[in-house]
Amino acid sequence: MSKLQEEIDLRRTFAIVSHPDAGKTTLTEKLLLFGGAIQTAGAVKSNKIKKSATSDFMEIEKQRGISVATSVMGFGYQGLKINILDTPGHKDFAEDTYRTLTAADSVIVVIDVAKGVEAQTEKLVEVCKMRDTPIIVFINKLDRYGKDAFDLLDEVEQKLGINVHPLSWPIGQGDDFQGVYNIYEKGLNLFSSENKQHVSDVVSVNDIESSELDDIVGSDAAGTLREELELIETVYPEYTNEKYLEGKVSPVFFGSALNNFGVQELLDCFVRIAPKPQPKESDIREISPYDEKFSGFVFKIHANMDPKHRDRIAFVKIVSGKFSRNTNYLHVRNNKKLKFSNPTAFMASKKEVVEDSYAGDIVGLYDSGNFKIGDTLTEGEKFMFSGIPSFSPEQFKYIENADPLKTKQLNKGVDQLMDEGVAQLFTKVDNNRKIIGTVGQLQYEVIQYRLEHEYNAKCRYEPINLFKACWFTSENEEQLKDFKLRKLHNLAKDKDGRDVFLADSRYALDLAQEKYTDIEFHFTSEF
Ligand code: G4P
Repeated sequence: MSKLQEEIDLRRTFAIVSHPDAGKTTLTEKLLLFGGAIQTAGAVKSNKIKKSATSDFMEIEKQRGISVATSVMGFGYQGLKINILDTPGHKDFAEDTYRTLTAADSVIVVIDVAKGVEAQTEKLVEVCKMRDTPIIVFINKLDRYGKDAFDLLDEVEQKLGINVHPLSWPIGQGDDFQGVYNIYEKGLNLFSSENKQHVSDVVSVNDIESSELDDIVGSDAAGTLREELELIETVYPEYTNEKYLEGKVSPVFFGSALNNFGVQELLDCFVRIAPKPQPKESDIREISPYDEKFSGFVFKIHANMDPKHRDRIAFVKIVSGKFSRNTNYLHVRNNKKLKFSNPTAFMASKKEVVEDSYAGDIVGLYDSGNFKIGDTLTEGEKFMFSGIPSFSPEQFKYIENADPLKTKQLNKGVDQLMDEGVAQLFTKVDNNRKIIGTVGQLQYEVIQYRLEHEYNAKCRYEPINLFKACWFTSENEEQLKDFKLRKLHNLAKDKDGRDVFLADSRYALDLAQEKYTDIEFHFTSEF
């Protein structure tokens, strides 16, 4: 095996996602703790935007600033190099999360045992399913009373549309929570009631029928566990790693991240089953991670909020080969050679300059405005990676220049913010008015604030009543022409000049779809 292949095979890059408050930050921290990457709890700053701060964007930006260092956390465990991709929990930053998922080779979904599957989780899993990303489910907060484990698994299967197979199983819940039985390893980890931060005992119970189990957890709990394990065997089809890697079945773990419970099982199983760096589709062929030549793509751009240092960090997922410092690479969209003197890797809670990184890794590149989301870097070959979509936004406002002397600054600012993926810009065909489309309300405040502080430009918003913006294409020239003529006042161009239909209402959209049967309406930017 070549050195390149050896290095690549050691990488495991994954994202942790959840609905806010399910315990993503706590689990991330505990994984780092168990992985030996940090020594004390509390070392990882939360990347989530505190509820109280929703109207205070300064605070948001400060928190975003903190989150740069923790956007990617690398650490070594059992000889592997693990990269955890953190994702913002706040729903208004959902697009950030979707894009981060394009850089993950697998995903861990955290679900609160009491709340079950929540809205944000459904959307995130939907995005994972689009690419058959392997998913592990971690059911958290077993130290509290919540839903029955079987009911919850049914809910997960139904709402998320995935097949599950438990690889660990809880013994009791809330005050009666005794621990988890590790189905994968056939072992039992017991929960110490005196000190919940410690695993009191790890006992191997190779034979679930042995009376030893009754002695340890009591006959009632032992009996229930035996029955439930039997039921699992009959209800859920056999678990295989192949099915997991194909995204066809999701192993489920139970635990309590806060109390360090079930986390070790999760991590140990993760390193055994999680996928190595995966190939990625480009517009010419699928690119294998083992390709000798380097390639990668930008999935996230983080602006420096300090106006004195206007640089940005572009996060690049390395798809193939080896990336080296001070080496010329091709920025395919701009057809321009670039080299990077300070590529940064992210280890646990700090950043450091790296000489070489390999497929699977994430590097941070300092950028003065060359990059936009989705850009491809290669050793010279011309291709673009696909699968980094924008989703059709849900909120819309006209953006107007509030300081006519600063038109240039405003345009530049809007341009760069859109490249970063903060929001999407549409220009109306009939009157050239500009519309900003976002996933959440918060982005409007962020844009206004950043235009003023970073670009010295002022904007104001005006309301527009829109239901949805979607891209459209058709082979049928005649229908296309007719549609464009009749809907002239509802047409716009996106930033790349593509046709967009601005539907006033669901009814208008349904009607258009019914009437123009040869026109395809697209709800993500990749079609
Ligand atoms: P998030 O990143 O998914 O938004 O969730 P986060 O880890 O911040 O956890 C949300 C809340 O749930 C936190 O409490 C956290 O302490 C708690 N939590 C996480 N895991 C468990 C668990 O296993 N059991 C119990 N009982 N609680 C858990 P908080 O009060 O909102 O915040 P904090 O003040 O404790 O940070």
